[in-house]
Amino acid sequence: MVGHRTGQVRRGIVSFVRRGGRITIAQQRNLDRYSDQWVIEAPAPAADPAAPVEPLDLTAIFGREAPLIVEIGPGMGESLVPMAAARPEASVLAFEVYQPSIGSILGKIADAGIDNLRVMEADAADVLARLLPADSIDRLWTFFPDPWPKKKHHKRRLVDSSFADLVAARMKRHGIWRLATDWEDYAGQMREVLDDHPRFVNEFREGWAPRWEQRPMTRFEQRGITAGRHIFDLSYRRR
Ligand SMILES: C[S@@+](CC[C@H](N)C(=O)[O-])C[C@H]1O[C@@H](n2cnc3c(N)ncnc32)[C@H](O)[C@@H]1O
Repeated sequence: MVGHRTGQVRRGIVSFVRRGGRITIAQQRNLDRYSDQWVIEAPAPAADPAAPVEPLDLTAIFGREAPLIVEIGPGMGESLVPMAAARPEASVLAFEVYQPSIGSILGKIADAGIDNLRVMEADAADVLARLLPADSIDRLWTFFPDPWPKKKHHKRRLVDSSFADLVAARMKRHGIWRLATDWEDYAGQMREVLDDHPRFVNEFREGWAPRWEQRPMTRFEQRGITAGRHIFDLSYRRR
């Protein structure tokens, strides 16, 4: 079980590589223009890991109380922004580690004219553990997480049993976690972890969910299809 103030779930191993940011002029311009409005600063971990941490004040961040949708790793926001626009009744919070992508997301938010989406440049595993209140997430989206296909890198995959414990602790009862991947082996790992997890129920008894029609196609999904890979969708309800 993951306590609220326990800090990192897995020390040292992260699900991403810090890429040196080649940022476009448009992405930088969007960051300069819109960060104040839609980017939330993640408070840095305290020097003393035992120090109490204030969880994010979601009501203050969104200026209202509303159901919370969290997306992990939205990339350039190709599916995130239209999906947030289609759900004005919800507050949507996205965690992305790659700053240039956040620049792209901000441009899309401005184009869409929406105000129910905020982005944090942060490792989702760290933020969920340190900063999100318990029982706060209504919906969690994890679409095409970095697959880490080589066996020696599997330990970097975001979705494993310790991450599932963390999600279970942060998600509301009856919350829904939707996932998708084009890597069969990772899809199998997700099924194994979540089918066996005491706090999640597979919404589709037969196993895989049908492709979620509400999720717009992204270049990552398209790349998988073009390469001849099957797209696996999964949907789990928190008990
Ligand atoms: C393969 S891309 C998929 C992007 C998008 N979901 C899509 O379907 O197009 C995975 C994204 O997850 C981000 N990412 C990986 N690990 C992360 C983490 N621990 N926290 C936040 N973002 C992460 C990467 O920077 C990248 O943008």
